Amino acid sequence: MKEQSFNEWLDALKSKANIVDIVSGYVPLTSKGGRYWACCPFHHEKTPSFTVDEQRGSYYCFGCHVGGDVIKFVMDIENIDFMSACKLLSQKVGLPMPEFKSKKPGESIAKKKERLYELMRNAARYYYECLVSDAGKVARDYMKKRGISKETAVLFGLGYSPDYNGLPARLRSLGYNELEMIEAGACAQKDGRVYDVMAGRLIVPIIDGMKRVIAFGGRVLTSEKQMKYRNTNDTVIFNKKCEVFGQDSLKKYRLKHAVNSVIMVEGYMDVISLYQAGVCNVVASMGTALNVKQAEIVKRYSDTVYVCYDGDTAGQAATLRSLDIFYGAGLNVKVVSLPDNLDPDEYIKAHGVESFSAQLAKALPLFEYKLRTLAKNYNMNSAEEQGKFVVEAVEILKTLPTPAQIDAYIPLVAKLSGLGADTVRRQLMQGSEFTEDGAPKLLTQLVKRKDGKYYKAMRFVLYALFGGVEGLSFDKDLSLYCEDEDHKKLYDYYRKNGEGELSPDDLIALEKEIPEAGEVLAEGRKVNEKAARDYFDGCVKALENEFVKKQRKLLLKAYSESSSEEEKSQILAQMSNNQKKK
Ligand code: UTP
Ligand code: MN
Repeated sequence: MKEQSFNEWLDALKSKANIVDIVSGYVPLTSKGGRYWACCPFHHEKTPSFTVDEQRGSYYCFGCHVGGDVIKFVMDIENIDFMSACKLLSQKVGLPMPEFKSKKPGESIAKKKERLYELMRNAARYYYECLVSDAGKVARDYMKKRGISKETAVLFGLGYSPDYNGLPARLRSLGYNELEMIEAGACAQKDGRVYDVMAGRLIVPIIDGMKRVIAFGGRVLTSEKQMKYRNTNDTVIFNKKCEVFGQDSLKKYRLKHAVNSVIMVEGYMDVISLYQAGVCNVVASMGTALNVKQAEIVKRYSDTVYVCYDGDTAGQAATLRSLDIFYGAGLNVKVVSLPDNLDPDEYIKAHGVESFSAQLAKALPLFEYKLRTLAKNYNMNSAEEQGKFVVEAVEILKTLPTPAQIDAYIPLVAKLSGLGADTVRRQLMQGSEFTEDGAPKLLTQLVKRKDGKYYKAMRFVLYALFGGVEGLSFDKDLSLYCEDEDHKKLYDYYRKNGEGELSPDDLIALEKEIPEAGEVLAEGRKVNEKAARDYFDGCVKALENEFVKKQRKLLLKAYSESSSEEEKSQILAQMSNNQKKK
């Protein structure tokens, strides 16, 4: 059990690293009254108020109130994080840190994640127990005030964190070490103490599509000056930008009902409240700006998304960007604008589910919404502003995929502007940029999908290179084939550091920097060993072919645009050269 041995190793380290020895390496200590004293290294003073207790293995400053154990001391004095402090201490006392090396980085990451998922599930269980216990009365009262029923609380696994220490104590008793609690994002460390970051909050677990608890959102119960929601920081198993809240409840609903569309809202409470009211095809982006990954999750459930953001944010730049991201992911986008700046939770409470459904029915198709929103910025009584509007509106039309669809919106632009359809059409023809297949350029950029064949091929190749396929020797340079930024970063890392044999720490660090890394490196578990080598070769071949094809396209374009005969023959030579390579 690697995880266990880290725990034991940590204990061994703490007992071997005598705090008096370690501290005196930084500040001279004098013994007085069974304690050791010094002028505090963390604040300026002339008489000693910094003290070390050898028996307890702790230090404390009566002047500036810092304190903790030997690891905390090293963290503070060296200004380094927990892990680095462990490493430094291990060198100082000559207790080497065990190396957790694995031939298959994908597997070791997967194991590590498994353990963190379990930890988070246990935390959720603890929070739930607290919610239904005596201590949870404040939270239950809060839920009552907001109209959240007991059934809803159970369905979403809501909970309550009564204090700073309960959770770490529970997790400790279940055999988790402090590093894991911090790595999972459930706890943080301050002054040598590990504490629950959600203390005092109503807990909303974020559960992914595989029923795994990956993070928490915690809401303050009172409207004090604290942040309204606190979310688990990003970890190995949670990347807030790439997740949606409500996938699990949506899946539960889908077991029994058809899901024809997904409603995307902003907040936890919107999902919970709509679900309770019987509108169950709902997920939240947990904030305003949307990410491609979130749109891809939605796409797994339906081709149609109703974007139902808070009244006060609709029409803002962030919302418009979100809409484009949904559109780029290939979704049919409809925009709901709730009146009076109400959020979906407030709206459904004030007006009921039927009225909410009526708002959905009134939702505008993406392009109509964009055009109408744009029109609001112009005073169409002014000829100048009419013209400006048409120019901007045409830019929007150009992002439509086909000329037929553009045509279909011309009457609306004409109507909104008060100008004739001919004027709009003339503006459309100006400097229009279309690609070879007739689609406007902007769109082709938008719909560059991430789930393509080549994307997957590159992923597997990376997995293999990082040791996922045994006995692989490979020296071709693939850097030209990495179109995805994360893939490029991973590949560069591989070229710099050589193959395989990454420690868990390397991987965690890598994944922090390159969110894709974990997924990439876990990829190959799906491929059987014998087939892996063949599959790898197939992937490389596919990438090469794709690259050659793209090159050819570029060369063709250059050829058709070139007016110099010499240049043209050079291009032809390059093309035949490429052909040979293939
Ligand atoms: P809202 O402020 O609209 O929250 O933020 P809400 O869901 O309506 O909250 P209630 O009804 O007051 O309880 C929308 C979402 O943005 C994220 C949360 O995911 C929230 O649900 N958020 C908001 C934070 O992460 N932190 C914050 O401080 C505020
Ligand atoms: Mn709200």
